[in-house]
Amino acid sequence: MHVSYTDEQNLIRTMVRDFAINEVEPTAAQRDEEERFDRNLFDKMGKLGLTGIPWPTAYGGLASDFLTYAMVIEELSRVCGSTGVMLSVHTSLVSWAIYKYGTEEQKQKFLRPLAEGKKLGAYSLTESGSGSDAGAMRTTAIKDGDRYVLNGSKLFVTNGGEAEVYIIFAMTDLQQRQKGCSAFIVEKGAAGFIFGSKEKKLGIRSSPTMELRFENCRVPVENLLGPEGDGFRIAMKSLDGGRIGIAAQALGIAQGALDASIAYAKERNQLGKPIGGQQTIAFRIADMATHIEAARLLTYQAAWRESKGLTYGKQAAIAKLFASDTAVQVCIEAVQIFGDDGYTKDFPVERFLRDAKVTQIYEGTNEIQRIVISRMLLAD
Ligand code: CAA
Repeated sequence: MHVSYTDEQNLIRTMVRDFAINEVEPTAAQRDEEERFDRNLFDKMGKLGLTGIPWPTAYGGLASDFLTYAMVIEELSRVCGSTGVMLSVHTSLVSWAIYKYGTEEQKQKFLRPLAEGKKLGAYSLTESGSGSDAGAMRTTAIKDGDRYVLNGSKLFVTNGGEAEVYIIFAMTDLQQRQKGCSAFIVEKGAAGFIFGSKEKKLGIRSSPTMELRFENCRVPVENLLGPEGDGFRIAMKSLDGGRIGIAAQALGIAQGALDASIAYAKERNQLGKPIGGQQTIAFRIADMATHIEAARLLTYQAAWRESKGLTYGKQAAIAKLFASDTAVQVCIEAVQIFGDDGYTKDFPVERFLRDAKVTQIYEGTNEIQRIVISRMLLAD
C-alpha cells in the first residue's frame, strides 16, 4: 500500500472537514443532549455526494473508492460519532450489500436513491437471543406465493425508524441454522413492519437505535437479496466492510479527542506555564498520537484492500479491534488531560469518551473480532 493520497482524496477530505466543522460540530453537543437525529445533515451530505462515495455514477454514486469513504467517516466522527455511524451503516452495510448482491432492478430501485441521499439505509441482524451468535436468530420468513411473510423482532438497529430501506436477515429454514438464513430488503411503511422502542444510550445519542417488529409482514419475492439461504454469508461479508467503517469512526473520535487535548494543553496554564509544557502531559499527547497513527494505517490498509479487490476480512477485524481500543484509551487520556473540565459537558471530550465505547461493541464485539482474526490465522 502506498501511503499517499490522490488529489481527489485530498479534495474530498478538505470539503468534508469544512462541512464537519461548519455544519455538524455546532449542533453535536445539543443533539447528543436531546438524543435528536437531524435528517438535514444526511440531506446535505446527499447534496455533497457523500451518501454514495464508492458506487458507480450509474447507481447515483460518486465513483470514488472505499478508502475515500473511510476518510469521510473519519472526518465526520472527528466532530460527531453519531453522524459518522449514520453514514457508515448506510454505506458499508446497506448500500454495499445491495451493490454486491442486488439484481440490476434492486440496484436501480434501492441503491440509486440510497447513493443519491434520497433514502437512508439500516441493517438488521441482531435479536434478543442472537447478538454475537448471529446464526441463532429466530425471525422467520416463510414463502407464500409471490411474498415472504416475516415474523419476529430485531434489536439495536442503527438508523432504525429514520431509514427508508432496511436489510433484514430472517430464517427461511430454521432447521439449517446459518444455511437457512436469507436477506431481504424491507421498506419503511410495509404492512406489518413495526417500529418498537428507541434505546436510551450512553453514547452516540443522536444516532437512533431502534427495535423492529415483524407481524405477518409480507415482502415481495423480488426483495429477496441474493439467493435464498445465502443470508448469513451476505451478513458476514457486509460486516467485513462495515467494520472498516467502525474502525474509521473510532479513528475519527480519537483524532477529535487528540485535537481538543492539544488545544487545551496549549491554553491551560498551571504552575506558571501551559500544561503542554509539562512532560507528563506532553508525553501523554505523544502516546495518543502514536496510537492514532497506527490505527489510521490499519484502517486505511483494510479500506485500500477493499478498493483493490483484495481480501480484507482479517484486516478489517484487526483495524476495528485496534482502532476502537485506541479510541477508548485516547479519550480516557483526553479527559484526564482536561481534569475537572474534561468531566463536564462544557468540553467535548466526555462526549467523545461516551461515543468511543460503542466502537468496541457493535458490528461484532472486540471478542468476536479476536475470533474472526484467530480463526483465519489458525485455519488449515
Ligand atoms: N465472509 C463470507 N462467509 C463467511 C464469513 C465471511 N466473513 N464468515 C463466515 N462465513 C461463512 C463460513 O464460511 C461458513 O460457511 P460454510 O458453512 O459454507 O463453510 C458460514 O458462514 C458459517 O460460518 P461460521 O461457522 O464461522 O459461523 P459461526 O456461527 O461460528 O459465527 C461469528 C461466526 C464470527 C461468531 C459470527 O456469528 C459473527 O460475526 N458474529 C458477530 C455478529 C455481529 O457482528 N453483529 C453485529 C450486527 S450489526 C450491529 O452491530 C448493529 C448496527 O446497526 C451497527
